[in-house]
Amino acid sequence: MKNVISSSDFTRKEIEEIFSVADSIKKGKRPKVKGDKVVALAFFEPSTRTFTSFDVAAKRLGFQTTGFRSEHETSVAKEESFADTMRMLSSYADCLVIRHRYDGAAKFASQITDKPVINAGDGKREHPTQSLMDLYTIRDAFGKIDGLTIGIVGDLKYGRTVHSLMSMLTAFKPKRVHLVSPLQLMLPRNFLKGLNYPYSETSDLGKVIADVDVLYATRIQKERFPDEMEYNKVKESYRIDCETVKRMKERAIILHALPRITEIAREVDRTKNAKYFEQARNGVPIRMALFSKVLGA
Ligand code: NCD
Repeated sequence: MKNVISSSDFTRKEIEEIFSVADSIKKGKRPKVKGDKVVALAFFEPSTRTFTSFDVAAKRLGFQTTGFRSEHETSVAKEESFADTMRMLSSYADCLVIRHRYDGAAKFASQITDKPVINAGDGKREHPTQSLMDLYTIRDAFGKIDGLTIGIVGDLKYGRTVHSLMSMLTAFKPKRVHLVSPLQLMLPRNFLKGLNYPYSETSDLGKVIADVDVLYATRIQKERFPDEMEYNKVKESYRIDCETVKRMKERAIILHALPRITEIAREVDRTKNAKYFEQARNGVPIRMALFSKVLGA
């Protein structure tokens, strides 16, 4: 595996291999890597978990990290081009981890550099390492991904975690995916063509809540709306609270890539169904496993 650009780059076998490396990392076994590598974390968009867990994952493997977590810290603020920035970073580092607000930024970077590129979320479309964490957390809870019913609720239009997850799920056989969103934030129609599993669409979470094994909640992506008035109309469309949890299957789990705003009430954190903090914790072993694949055993 050279680059990690898209969720669709992975076969089921590759995903399962990453999961089993992550399993052994969690049991305290380190993958063997040459520790003399430098990883550049090039984050042009805000991030807490993704930046930090990539940084920690690299350091736990003995790599050094460098980089930035805001465009304003770079010469892009002086109008240097993205391409020149990538060219420079690739002459200093052995691997580039990129987050950017534009769709396709990571792919573009991979065409400029011959160093491995890992997409840490670009634009509305891709966040493949998050999808690995999402599916890994599901598999941890149920021992499988096949046969489960998954509800995805919130911003299905702009949410890259949704798009990436739906695409990575095509490597598995979910029983059904319920897509729950306000009309304005429905999944873009072109995504439906690529799906090989049953799905349904509704704006009413109540209709599907009792059917799901996994409820994947998302933040309404304020920064991607062309117009703040439009955001204000939908910003509080869904709120999952303990009443919602009571209507779910007893063993159902709730996931969220985080950050959450108001879509999951804090009281839900204490329920055994809430798995979003565990999902975030899985970022380190999953990203360590990925680095060990990309930067070689
Ligand atoms: C997500 C992202 O950046 O797409 N966050 C993350 O990586 N954990 C989700 C979001 O910002 O809503």
